[in-house]
Amino acid sequence: MKKTNFRSERMRILVVGGKGTIGQVIVGKLEKKHEVIIAGRTSGDVQVDLTEVASIERMFKKVGHVDAIVNASGAAKFQTIEAMTPEDNLVAVQSKLLGQINLVLIGQHYLLHDGSITLTTGIMKDDPIPGGASAAMANGGVAAFVKSAAIDFTQGIRINCVSPNVLEESYDAYQESFKGFVPVPAERVAMAYVKSIEGKQTGQEYKVY
Ligand SMILES: NC(=O)c1ccc[n+]([C@@H]2O[C@H](COP(=O)([O-])OP(=O)(O)OC[C@H]3O[C@@H](n4cnc5c(N)ncnc54)[C@H](OP(=O)(O)O)[C@@H]3O)[C@@H](O)[C@H]2O)c1
Repeated sequence: MKKTNFRSERMRILVVGGKGTIGQVIVGKLEKKHEVIIAGRTSGDVQVDLTEVASIERMFKKVGHVDAIVNASGAAKFQTIEAMTPEDNLVAVQSKLLGQINLVLIGQHYLLHDGSITLTTGIMKDDPIPGGASAAMANGGVAAFVKSAAIDFTQGIRINCVSPNVLEESYDAYQESFKGFVPVPAERVAMAYVKSIEGKQTGQEYKVY
């Protein structure tokens, strides 16, 4: 049979943050074809707090091996630089930055051959908003980590990240900070995760702007 460039078989996919605004749309696209396990601090099938290494280890021991790991969660404190404290900045360091990187460092050992990892960054690293420097720092760190980590993986393992614009679904809450931005539908953002999971690319940052 002719080999395709896409994974068409049923996969076992872990989606951290799968009950969130972006996560639930990703899950909606995946669950028609694949087995999806949703993780969250309180929501989902299995509990995890990405800010704690022990919690990530406990989650993978429960879940076991998967074909794909997706993260659609991450917190940051929005604060102008003049008012920001080192403690404020730690929120993004521990959640968006180290939380996602630790998910990779621990999760890689639970990935099957040809598996994939898909992380989440965001537009504010490329298109700054007031008070967004801490989130931008974490987003930039994750994007650089993904690009570099991709060349180290063997066994066919791929890693990408998705950088969403502000979502139409979140715009009511965020519009004061995102003046002049043109929000994108979660549907479009979710397709970038599908490309990462079912496609063949690695080391990419999919900018859905
Ligand atoms: N919405 C947007 O417009 C937008 C745009 C660009 C980038 N992003 C980024 O995309 C990611 C998801 O955004 P969203 O709007 O979908 O968020 P959301 O609606 O708040 O959902 C976040 C999800 O993640 C889980 N979660 C939160 N903290 C967690 C932790 N420490 N460990 C494990 N799970 C955790 C939550 O479940 P529990 O409460 O059960 O933990 C929830 O299911 C965030 O990093 C965000 O910055 C969002």
